[in-house]
Amino acid sequence: MSFDRSIKIAPSILAADFANFGAECEAIEAQGADWVHVDVMDGHFVPNITFGPATCAAIRPHIRGVMDVHLMIAPIDPYIDAFAKAGADVITAHVEAGPHIHRTLQAIRGAGAKAGVALNPGTPASAVSELLDSVDLICVMTVNPGFGGQKFIDMSAKIRTLREMIGDRPVHIEIDGGVDPTTAPLVAQAGADVLVAGSAVFRGGSVSNPAPYGENIRAIRAAAAGTYV
Ligand code: DX5
Ligand code: ZN
Repeated sequence: MSFDRSIKIAPSILAADFANFGAECEAIEAQGADWVHVDVMDGHFVPNITFGPATCAAIRPHIRGVMDVHLMIAPIDPYIDAFAKAGADVITAHVEAGPHIHRTLQAIRGAGAKAGVALNPGTPASAVSELLDSVDLICVMTVNPGFGGQKFIDMSAKIRTLREMIGDRPVHIEIDGGVDPTTAPLVAQAGADVLVAGSAVFRGGSVSNPAPYGENIRAIRAAAAGTYV
């Protein structure tokens, strides 16, 4: 994975057809997705359960680009190797998921994946001030994690603070939750470069009718670039 800060659209398969993940990953990539965002939930750290390493391994052959795995689980460390072996390019852990986030991030890099740290809406940017050289990505949650289709919570000030803290380090700022053509400009102008979107990408389309996926991705990308009309 080379680093650049150009806008990347990362559809979340939480909003995809759960009976058809492989075909959905191929469809969104064919329609312009840059990354595929995989929302792992354990029903403990968040009040919902989705899928685990086996699903990641199953969809890996259907993803040409980056498989961006968002772990909404606690504890994290016992499962890092399984997600890395499943082919995750990025593994993101929540700073709130346990007392040893620094060790978790070292373990993610040790397993061969890029390390991400996620911040819930109530967690300040200062929570990652000691982690800036241990991460490749900071995920700013703009919803309380657990579900797709929720209302965007504006975190622009936190994004700006993080952008300043990062400086010229090769660290992505990812936004996750409620991203659509209306909210994308806010977060892009604040300094974000990876935009996760579930409902705003998958709405109106299907594996047999993927064109809306492309329209939705283009609309978010254009909005982030400030050219959305
Ligand atoms: C929420 C997940 C998000 C969610 C985004 O816990 O981490 O990735 O799927 O879905 P939308 O874009 O519909 O808010
Ligand atoms: Zn997510």
